[in-house]
Formats: sequence, C-alpha cells, structure tokens
Amino acid sequence: MFLVQVPATSANLGPGFDCMGLAVQLYNRFTVEESDQLSLILKGSYTDNIPADENNLLWQTMLKLWQLIDFRPQPVKITLESHVPPARGLGSSSTAVVGGLMIANTLAGSPFDKFALLKVATEIEGHPDNVTPALYGGITLTVMTEDSVIPRVLVKNPGFRAVVIIPDILVETEKARKILPVAVPRQDAVYNSSRVGLLVDAFIHEDYSLLGVATQDKLHQAQRASLIPGMTAALQSAGRAGAYGAALSGSGPTLIAFCPPGLEDRVASSMTDELAAKGLNTRAYFLDID
Ligand code: HSE
Repeated sequence: MFLVQVPATSANLGPGFDCMGLAVQLYNRFTVEESDQLSLILKGSYTDNIPADENNLLWQTMLKLWQLIDFRPQPVKITLESHVPPARGLGSSSTAVVGGLMIANTLAGSPFDKFALLKVATEIEGHPDNVTPALYGGITLTVMTEDSVIPRVLVKNPGFRAVVIIPDILVETEKARKILPVAVPRQDAVYNSSRVGLLVDAFIHEDYSLLGVATQDKLHQAQRASLIPGMTAALQSAGRAGAYGAALSGSGPTLIAFCPPGLEDRVASSMTDELAAKGLNTRAYFLDID
C-alpha cells in the first residue's frame, strides 16, 4: 500500500537544549498494507520490550490524529522495521510519533500539511528538537511560541559526517530531564544563548571551525555526565582527534561528533577508548545528515 521512513535524530547539538536538532541517515521504516484487522508487526534490530498493541506510541499517535478530525479508519497491517535503538538519545520515540502521524494522515486522505503535523508532533513530544528534523530533515532550529512553532531548516547536506557513538546502556529521557535544575544562573543562560547564535551562524555559513566553541553547553550536559561514565572525556577527545565539535545526543547516552570526512575512524576510536576506560561497551556509526 505505502511505505513511510523516519530518520533517527540528535537533539540539542550542545547548547540548543530543546530547540536544535539534526536528522541522520538511519531509519525506522513502516510498511502499511490493507488487512482485515488492525495489527502491528515488529521486525528489525530493536523489538524487545516494544509493545505491539494499543500501548505502542505509533498506535496512540495515529488514534490522536484521527480523533482530531473524527476519522474512522479501515483496518491496516503495519510492519515496523526498526533500526533506531530506543532509549539511546537518537529520537526513537520521535520516529513513532512522526511515523504514526504520517501514516494516519495518509490513510485519512492527507488533510494535514507538514507544518500541521509538526504542531501535533510537538504537542505530543513536549519539545520540537527531534520531531522537526524527523519531519523536515537537515539541521534544524525550532522556536516554540505560545500557540505554535517556528521551524527553520538551517542546512541540508553539510560538509561533515556524524560520528555516532552508542554506549550499551539505556537512559530514559524522563529521568535525564528530572535531574536538571529548574532555574539556571544568568551567566549560564548567556553562555548558552550566545553559543546557540554561534551554532546557527556556523551552520548557515558552513563555517565548521566555529563548532568547537559553538557546541559547548552549560544547561544539561555536565548535569547528565553522572548517567554516562566517561562522557566529558570522550567529548573532549573528539576535538583532539580532529572533530569540529561534539555533543551529547539528546538526553544520551549516545554521543555525536561532527567530523571532517576521512577522520571518522580516528575520532570514533578516541571517543570509544574514553568510554571503554570507564567500562562502557559502544557501537559506532558513521552517518551522513539526512
Ligand atoms: N531536548 C531533549 C532533552 C531531547 O535533552 O531532554 C530528548 O528527547
């Protein structure tokens, strides 16, 4: 009937907590087929502990969209082929939200455009930094206003690769948000807002030499370091190995380095060595931006 694919995403990019993100060429794929009953089949690398019933976020999201327009669907069979690891800071829940919205919208005759889908997705996720790049691709900045969002795609196909280091531990986003302080010192707010400005400038002008400073953060990364042994040393080692910059991906535990093509192996080794020194096993992906 039709196929939907949604990319993995990395949120924050250092200082852009809850507003910056990018999509990488690693996908969850959903095949939608006619059927006499509603069913969800799970395939691929990450099916453990994922519910295949109405508790699945994909289903819940589809029902939400249909409720909004009072639509009664025909039954379908959806097969999820998963390649985005859950609870690793790569936007796997966003793939379910965005995938669910795209499928439900298509089955309803596409009454929503991309921007309308983004608004619903942001409402479900609570912050837009994963869902915007999952829907639009590229490197994005999204501003939430009182009743809407302003999504901006800063660059597609940038001249660097993403070195993505995935530690073999799970970090639940909810827990990683709860440990953050509710208020921050003014100097930390200035530190981050100036770097988000620099980050946007670096991407728009493709001046990646700025990324070392532009990916620095004081709002969440150090606070989350206790959840990811070796994180700070690994991020620093990426720069010494030649990466333009590096950051905690979303709420972790994955780390992402922005890397000149050709240096991926060196950067990945330096980061995995630091994490291994603290007892963490890792997997490395070298990915292009979607
Ligand atoms: N901006 C979010 C966070 C991304 O860092 O908590 C995780 O979904």
